[in-house]
Amino acid sequence: MTRIFSGIKPTGHLTLGNYLGAVRQWADVDQHRAESLFSVVDLHALTVDHDPGRVRRLSRQAATLLLASGIDPERATLFVQSHVDEHARLSYLLECVATDGEMRRMIQYKEKSALERARGGSVRLSLLTYPVLMAADILAYGADEVPVGDDQVQHVELTRDLAVRFNQRYGHTFVVPRATYPKVAARVMDLQDPSSKMGKSGDAGAGIVYLLDEPEVVRKKIMRAVTDGGSEVEYDREAKPGVSNLLEILAACEGGNPEGLSGVYETYGALKKDTADAVVEVLRPVQEKHKELVADPAYVEEVLRRGAERARGMSRPMVDTAYRAIGLLPPV
Ligand code: TYM
Repeated sequence: MTRIFSGIKPTGHLTLGNYLGAVRQWADVDQHRAESLFSVVDLHALTVDHDPGRVRRLSRQAATLLLASGIDPERATLFVQSHVDEHARLSYLLECVATDGEMRRMIQYKEKSALERARGGSVRLSLLTYPVLMAADILAYGADEVPVGDDQVQHVELTRDLAVRFNQRYGHTFVVPRATYPKVAARVMDLQDPSSKMGKSGDAGAGIVYLLDEPEVVRKKIMRAVTDGGSEVEYDREAKPGVSNLLEILAACEGGNPEGLSGVYETYGALKKDTADAVVEVLRPVQEKHKELVADPAYVEEVLRRGAERARGMSRPMVDTAYRAIGLLPPV
């Protein structure tokens, strides 16, 4: 059976981008067709300036929101990355396979390190090695597929390279995984700046819809979205990035495709109104379920406890095999 691994990092509140680009796919499709593991990858949240209490709160919230989005703990394994030691154990081995040049070429590293330096801060070494830890997350489980938004393409490519290199040098050990993307909304853009990704670590701006935003807030953000020159409502990501982003969001919410919505609307206002309504409807059940789950923290904890136990059992043999293959003496 196909095995799937994916993760989300608790660096901010979950956004509509996370939901449409990844989480909804995990809940509605992936967990029904494959053996699935989904992780709140909290170690990754420590690669930039962080507040310990906030990371803890956001980790709990992310796990709760994944359940609220429909991840079913009877079908999929849901766990917190730091509860399973194998990720860090394997990450070190992969650091011995990856090169520093490879790491420095990663787009997200270049962008985030430049931002950090521009703020006058220093860049954590873990920001540079982040993609290796991500590769370890995936390879530790022998995952065949990694469902992600398209900002993760380069990281999954690196994961493949490391798996192939390790296998060539030390004997076949790892499955070489491939990324999968949703057909629509693989890259939801910021509503105020459609040239940049809607990201949870972006400023708390008006351009980001959060999963837990109240309906009125969602409506306001979408109605105020930046649109483009002209007045035709057409899907053209180059010429009409703002409108195309709204069409993409609307299509994703309705289960259609954005090209099919080209020419359907006469005004930007009508498109915005329908998009706002569609987003509010998509978020409603998630928010309702989230409210229920927040009232039952013991349930969420039990899911995470069982998830970590299962994940340990699945990753331990793979990581032990890699330790032996690379030349480390078995413990006596
Ligand atoms: P993260 O936490 O930034 O995002 C989680 C998932 O949401 C997708 N996503 C988006 N999709 C469409 N439009 C957007 N605006 C948008 N923003 C985010 C991301 O592509 C991702 O699928 N490095 C990963 C976390 C990670 C991981 C892993 C993922 C760590 N280990 C192993 C897969 C497998 C990240 O930062 O995702």
